[in-house]
Amino acid sequence: MKRFLDLDDLDDQRLEAVLARAGELEHRPSTRPLSGRIVALLFMNPSLRTLASMQAGVAQLGGSSFVISPGTGSWKLEMRDGAVMDGDAVEHVREAIPVLGQYADAMAVRCFESGADLAEDLSDGVIRAMASLSPVPFINLESAASHPCQALGDWKTLDDFRVPRRGGKFVLSWAYHPKALPYAVPASALAMAARRGMHVTVLRPDGFELPAAIMTRARALAARSGGTVEETSDRNAGMEGAHVLYAKSWTAPSLYGRPEEEAKVRAPLREWCVAESWFEAARPEAKFMHCLPVRRNVKVTDEVLDGPRSVVVREAANRLYAQKALLVEMLGEEGA
Ligand code: CP
Repeated sequence: MKRFLDLDDLDDQRLEAVLARAGELEHRPSTRPLSGRIVALLFMNPSLRTLASMQAGVAQLGGSSFVISPGTGSWKLEMRDGAVMDGDAVEHVREAIPVLGQYADAMAVRCFESGADLAEDLSDGVIRAMASLSPVPFINLESAASHPCQALGDWKTLDDFRVPRRGGKFVLSWAYHPKALPYAVPASALAMAARRGMHVTVLRPDGFELPAAIMTRARALAARSGGTVEETSDRNAGMEGAHVLYAKSWTAPSLYGRPEEEAKVRAPLREWCVAESWFEAARPEAKFMHCLPVRRNVKVTDEVLDGPRSVVVREAANRLYAQKALLVEMLGEEGA
């Protein structure tokens, strides 16, 4: 496999193999299948977990990595085709990506949404263009529309807690955030749970429905796996019998690219902060999931985040194991 841009890039057999290998690597971390291999890490946007877990994972597998953060220690990069480069950016990705590929055996890139054009961001054209410029295997570390490494780690987290694939209820809930946030994580979490065969409910206030393209894709995945996808703004009905509440904020699609107008619609929704009372209709052992970072007492209360339902640290740990398994799949002897 030369490109991992979305969870769809792993067929069912490979996905199960990566999950199984992630479990093995968690308990037997000392194998070194990447000995002598180098991974270039290009971060156009900030990170804590992704950056640290990729560097740690490559090192644990016997390889090494280098990090490029354009604008803070390396040249600011231009990504637009046909740009007249008389601004801050002094180098184009059309050179930078092939050049980095001369020094590395694989490349992993984080490049968020433009936030201006919904259709363009949902097409994930920027990360796809970057991948097409790479002469070496390419991993998406979060793009405009997809965070597939997060989805892999989250799938493993659900398995770890024995949340049923078929029949398990997964609630993806909108939560308040002071800024308009992108669709990468909610789209990937929704697709992951639908593909896992779960009964998925998208819980959101009116006006914050996920874009139709994201819902349609999730419904197609659910139809194939035996799951279902529904949506509601009724919290009690949505949480009925839930095994998992996965919280995330996202932009109102009708106001995409208009953050000042969107902020006015979002402002009255501060009570969409996940609290213990949200779980009254859920299963007693229901888990709380979030990809992190999370704003305490804005998106979720201290009580939930510090309580027994919260599995957010486990999710972050699973990023390491899942990404190591992916690297072995793509760069190890069997995957090469
Ligand atoms: N969940 C996640 O990707 O975290 P970072 O943004 O810190 O990498």
